[in-house]
Formats: sequence, structure tokens, C-alpha cells
Amino acid sequence: MIKLKIIIKEDYGEMSSGAANIIARQIMREPESVLGLPTGRTPVGTYAQLVNYYDNDLLDFAEITTFNLDEYYNLPRDHEESFHSYMKKRLFSKVNLKDENTNIPDGEAVNPERECQRYEESIEEAGGINLIVLGVGINGHIGFNEPGADWGSKTRLVDLAESTTRQNFERMEEAPDEALTMGIRTIMHSEKVLLLASGDEKKRALEEVLRGPVDQNWPGSILQLHPNLTVIMDKEATPEELED
Ligand code: GLP
Repeated sequence: MIKLKIIIKEDYGEMSSGAANIIARQIMREPESVLGLPTGRTPVGTYAQLVNYYDNDLLDFAEITTFNLDEYYNLPRDHEESFHSYMKKRLFSKVNLKDENTNIPDGEAVNPERECQRYEESIEEAGGINLIVLGVGINGHIGFNEPGADWGSKTRLVDLAESTTRQNFERMEEAPDEALTMGIRTIMHSEKVLLLASGDEKKRALEEVLRGPVDQNWPGSILQLHPNLTVIMDKEATPEELED
């Protein structure tokens, strides 16, 4: 049974709380869940709400395992704009996740191909991802799977479009031009998918991803084939035909 759930919230705060509640339910129901985690601006409020639930003794991350979607390549992991730094700041330093249970592609790996193979094997050894949380780029990318990414792609090294880097990176003079990213296939093999979107800059991407053809020009459109997809968005990001 295909399960596509579209949730429209008034604003960013409500979207973030709604997303945090879905993730919290997963943790409560399955304390040993394997979560796929995103970075970027969209999930910041969601992480803050999860930390709030932890601080109020509602959530226990002790047996949770996490796999991040992506990491820049050849950027020192302690660089303040690395995804390692982002996750430490937004979540890992604030809840009782065990270090050995958190996984982010190693952007400093000497052999990126071997690191990508290792990452895929780690996901399999963990039993696969139960719930993967995604943002979406303005060009419909998921993770760092840019337009044209193969549907069958796995974790791999990719070149970054400058427009994408400019979207995420502040100090452009230090911006990396490559990244390690879970592939489309990796993402689609997750048991459940939760896609977050906020702001009118994502309206077009949501329109194409949710209502357009399944098309490699809009990588996120493959999610229409996922058997258990929930999309949570704020009103600004909501395409006209989805508005109630
Ligand atoms: C980056 C990340 C994606 C993220 C996307 C949107 O490229 N690799 O994982 O979902 O951009 O980021 P934001 O939420 O800041 O718009």
C-alpha cells in the first residue's frame, strides 16, 4: 500500500515541530531506530525541538543510530562549515547519542571510493535506515544528488554546482567543490521518508518533485515512487494546487 502524506503547516516553526514530532514518534516506537539525517537551514528548527524533547526527558537517543546524507570532500571535519561541525552543534553535543552510533561520510578520506563503499556497508550492517529525513534543494536535489543523478546511484563522490555551494556555504573562498553523498538508491531503500520544505524559494521544487513527472532533472521526483513518504511544508513553500 503506497502511503503518501502531505502535511501543510502555517509557518516554519509549526513545520519544524511537526517534523520533530514525527521523528520523536519513531524514536518512541523503536528506540533502536536507524535514522538518516540532513543538514542545511531547513532542519535547524526540527533539531532544536528534538533537543527540547530530550532536555525534558521525553526522548532517549541511547540506542539510536544515525547516518548523515552527505559531507563536503577535502574540507577539514572541524571546519565550522563542515556537516560534522553542523551535526555536533545542532544535535550530537546536546543529546545522549553514542559517538560510535553516529555516522557521517568521512570527507577527509584519502580514498573516497573506498570510504563510500564502507559507508554503504555500514548502513547495511545497521539493518538499513528506518526513517530518513530530507530537505530539498531549490533545483530539486536531495542530499547532493544534483539534476541528472542516476536513480540507481549509491554513496559516491560528486562535483558540486557552484549554485548549490553558494546556497549552503558562507566563506566561498574556502568552499569545497566536491562532496560525498548518499545516492538516490541509498535514500530510496529507506523504510520511511520524511521530506521537509520551507519558504517560497522551495515552492517550484515541491511542485516539480511532487506533481511533476518522475524526471532526473528534478531528482527529488523519484520520491513519488517511495511506498512511505511524508512531506511536511509551510504555507510559503506550498504549491498552489496543494493549497486547501
Ligand atoms: C544542501 C544539502 C541538502 C539540503 C539542501 C537544502 O545541498 N546537501 O541535504 O537538503 O541543500 O538546504 P536548505 O535546507 O538550507 O535549503
